[in-house]
Amino acid sequence: MAARVLAVLAFVLGLAAAWGLGGGAGRRIFDSRCATCHGAGGRGAPGMARLFGVPPQNMDLSSAGVQKMTDEDLARTISEGRGPMPPFKGVLGPEQMREVIAHIRSLAAPRKPGRAK
Ligand code: HEC
Repeated sequence: MAARVLAVLAFVLGLAAAWGLGGGAGRRIFDSRCATCHGAGGRGAPGMARLFGVPPQNMDLSSAGVQKMTDEDLARTISEGRGPMPPFKGVLGPEQMREVIAHIRSLAAPRKPGRAK
């Protein structure tokens, strides 16, 4: 029963990825792995910034500084972690890494649905 639900879920996620609806899977990964610190909208959770003693703008993923990083730079930072941020190497697979980066891109200026790439 549970396996069946998982199979259906995997199928739907696979379809979403195949259709290029990166916002879906990427957002789910972001919500479960990143939002605690970076906030649901990716602008940084002020309480976390205080806790870590990091300026809140360092945790704002919609900032120009983060948005001008290349996908490779983002993947490296996310894999290796940064300061209080834990490394996600081995936690996120290559596909999940691409999806979460696509989600970070979608945090910049609001864009039309379906054009998040
Ligand atoms: C435990 C809290 C925490 C979690 C979880 C976390 N981060 Fe971070 N992240 C931080 C902090 C703190 C910084 C700022 C570090 C600094 O400036 O020293 C940061 C910085 C970043 C940066 C900017 C790096 C730069 O060079 O400016 C990116 C991109 C980023 N995080 C992505 C992510 C993604 C994607 C996830 C989820 C897969 C994630 N983070 C999960 C705490 C976290």
